[in-house]
Amino acid sequence: MPEFREFMHQNGPSTVVMFSAEAAPFAKVGGMGDVVGALPKALAKLGIHPLVVIPAYGAVLRQDRFPLGACGAVPHLDVSLGSETERAEIYQARSDASGVDFYFIGSRTYFNRPGIYGDPDTGEGYRDNGKRFLFFMKAGLELLLRLNTPVDIIHCHDSHTALIPGLLRTNYDRSPFFKKAGTLFTIHNLAYQGVYSRKVLHYAGIDDEHFFPMSPFEYWDKVNFMKAGILISDKVNTVSETYALEIQTGHEFGHGLEGVLRSRSMDLSGIVNGIDYEEWNPRTDPFIQASFSGDDLSGKGKCKDFLLRRFGFPGTGGRAPVIGIVSRLADQKGLELIADAAAEIMKLEMRMVILGVGQLKYHELLQDLASKFPDRIGVNLSFDDALAHEIMAGSDMFLMPSRYEPCGLSQLASLRYGTIPIVRATGGLADTVVPYEEENGTGFLFRGYSSGEMLEALKRALSVYSDPDRWRALVRHAMAQDWSWDKSAEKYRRLYRSIHLKRHF
Ligand code: GLC
Repeated sequence: MPEFREFMHQNGPSTVVMFSAEAAPFAKVGGMGDVVGALPKALAKLGIHPLVVIPAYGAVLRQDRFPLGACGAVPHLDVSLGSETERAEIYQARSDASGVDFYFIGSRTYFNRPGIYGDPDTGEGYRDNGKRFLFFMKAGLELLLRLNTPVDIIHCHDSHTALIPGLLRTNYDRSPFFKKAGTLFTIHNLAYQGVYSRKVLHYAGIDDEHFFPMSPFEYWDKVNFMKAGILISDKVNTVSETYALEIQTGHEFGHGLEGVLRSRSMDLSGIVNGIDYEEWNPRTDPFIQASFSGDDLSGKGKCKDFLLRRFGFPGTGGRAPVIGIVSRLADQKGLELIADAAAEIMKLEMRMVILGVGQLKYHELLQDLASKFPDRIGVNLSFDDALAHEIMAGSDMFLMPSRYEPCGLSQLASLRYGTIPIVRATGGLADTVVPYEEENGTGFLFRGYSSGEMLEALKRALSVYSDPDRWRALVRHAMAQDWSWDKSAEKYRRLYRSIHLKRHF
């Protein structure tokens, strides 16, 4: 339908291809997986046709909840990596009502392993990650060529896909197929940049002449995927407005790329994430013991009793509030503040329940706390979606003392479940939680990265909690906020449109 495409070109992009290392429900380590799972569905509702391309990890192939089939149009293709050639097996998820097409890139050598980024047993990243994700990127672009569906926007997420704009600029520079495809690079977390030896450019097929100081492909004599993504994409965005500003200020947030980011400040913006309101809905959540809503909070009390029993606390703990934490256990998340303030926190009238996996040192730290204060703190060191929902529903407060937080999704779920967030005022936390001052506000914030300030915020929350009427009003107000994807998907649509116009005129 050439006329239809012509019409869409005048009115904005119609096909958006997302490349990512994670997408829920297939493969997820952190929030990026949720975003790439939910945003395309919201875009489809706006009339955009989204395609999502992720690797076919061993666990994705072996699960049977969402069966994959071989891609009929392109069952496999060969990818060159320097002098080597590696076969990519292409799979598709059976499309459902959401209107999103999922493609998966498999490889016996690179993806048929238990982990996504590293070995789940040791926590160590795979040593060949540069090559693995380069293979993924190259195979993904070849797939698009062969599918031959015209592509308007290529939307890349984080470092594992960040060399795609660079591959388009070099290897595919003369390709008529990609000529009009605009690129957007989204930064979910600047701490993971994908820095590899220059050999990776050889595997990419990018000529040595592109490797010189100050070029997008050079970073302290190495290759930094994220730097290339930031410099070469048509537009760059991060997942909140505050984080978009913070990362340009200095090394603490910019992790060495602050200057590179400043050089793109005209094309750099922030769009706060939403959450999947179907998945996170206390009225219909199949994982929780009793449903509830702002009008009828009685179910929340039942969820709390259940949660306390589940973590083995004797009795129901009286009226003491439960503070929940669901988190990747990584440096970013501020767990050391909890360790520093532990003795003080444990004197407070409360219970704490923590769910997460991550770095070994935090596993040890939390286990240690749980054994010292068994009647105050319960810890579950695993990845457990159902329990995450139970904690959201059964807790009274939700603690996120992050050192930095590009957006954060858990505080959005906690608001929807009337579980009042206590957060450090950084990145997306500052943009989504409004400080409680009498009638207003949705949570409690603290500024400095200090256990003292965190403790102060906790105490403020406990003092409001001790007045049930005020607390109930706060809970209702928090639950009335709208953090669904609708508004932010519309912002992405506008951003795609501006890229599209830039490419076409
Ligand atoms: C990363 C960030 C988190 C953000 C998520 C999704 O996990 O650390 O703040 O919410 O990506 O964008």
